[in-house]
Amino acid sequence: MNTKLENVRADLPAANQYAYLNTGTCGPLSRPVIEAMAAAAHDQAMLGRIRHEVNVAEERPRVHDLRAAFAKLMGVHTQEVALARNTTDGLNTAVWGQPWRPGDEIIVTDLEHEGGAMPAILAAKRFGLNLKTLCLLDKDPVDIPNIVDDELGPNSKLLVISHVSWSNGALVPLKEVVTAAHAHGCRVAVDAAQSAGAVPLALHDTDVDYYAVPGQKWLCGPEGIGALYVKEEAQTTLSPTYTGYSALPSDYPGHPWNCFGHLVLAADARRYENSSIYRPGVHGMLAGLEWLDITIGWDWAFAQMNHIHRYARERLMQLPSLTVFTPEAAAGLLHFHLPEGTDVDYVNDALVAHSIRIRTIPHMNCLRVSTGFWNTEEEIERLAQALTKILH
Ligand SMILES: Cc1ncc(COP(=O)(O)O)c(C=O)c1O
Repeated sequence: MNTKLENVRADLPAANQYAYLNTGTCGPLSRPVIEAMAAAAHDQAMLGRIRHEVNVAEERPRVHDLRAAFAKLMGVHTQEVALARNTTDGLNTAVWGQPWRPGDEIIVTDLEHEGGAMPAILAAKRFGLNLKTLCLLDKDPVDIPNIVDDELGPNSKLLVISHVSWSNGALVPLKEVVTAAHAHGCRVAVDAAQSAGAVPLALHDTDVDYYAVPGQKWLCGPEGIGALYVKEEAQTTLSPTYTGYSALPSDYPGHPWNCFGHLVLAADARRYENSSIYRPGVHGMLAGLEWLDITIGWDWAFAQMNHIHRYARERLMQLPSLTVFTPEAAAGLLHFHLPEGTDVDYVNDALVAHSIRIRTIPHMNCLRVSTGFWNTEEEIERLAQALTKILH
């Protein structure tokens, strides 16, 4: 193991407890996150949360810095970022805020998670929309833009799609998908639960409209905090669904609202926020994003993730009883089927006994391995050997 990897692993306590191969559910918290959250929680407990001068001088700027850190991660402007609770929260904002009319079409794919599919299904029922589902599960990701082009039509208004699918690990060619959808006048909302922190992002290049990011997975941050990117031009058509004091402009001369109907919302993406936010989460998330960007360095992290994903793919493909079905175009997730009739839960539990944590994907009746930049070839070897033993 090289020294950098050793140092990185020393900063991720949970990654040393077992082979930590399930970041698709939650990533390991880094020491800077843990310490920042603990210090903030301690301060809240011991000094109270009502020190107005501290809130004004420190907490509010920190919230702004967090929006800026998410913006840097995505390659966008801070004014295009709203803090959100998680991926699902951001996708709900993107779905419910559309100017829907009965008969409009909302499109999902069979690669989606509850976080993207459920708001779309519910919105279709409530607004009388036509729901279309693109079948992409067995398709090569390079063909997806053509499928989008073929399937969308003049009534297509919003496509909800994952950048990286939780069902098969496919990395979707985002820019080409967005181009194909926009050619039909259809906006694109992306579920970034498995992509933010797993692949480099330059969202302005893709022209995507909405991109919903969680903190707790590949960004190794706390739960309960994430971000929603809303492209500047898309902010004029997306209405806020929930609102509250965080959505008010900070520089408005006078009162931006009153109880008689006067209401002026922030001119930027903050209008999609609502109110109070768990402050230790803000401290932790910001410390975590800075650690990833500055101490770890994204170039190193992505190179390492690419290497360990390839290594895992090649090693597991050597096991004759497994069928790896994640397409070549992938990020940090690797999915495989077991021999017919083998109980995935049994194998998953047996791996825990070998001190290895992956997960089952029940609707696919498969197992899924998540490889992060902290994972080692030795851990993959342990996984391969344990699977061989359990399945012999
Ligand atoms: C693709 C995908 N979307 C959404 C979610 C839900 O994420 P969140 O808890 O951030 O809403 C997950 C995982 O839990 C996921 O894998």
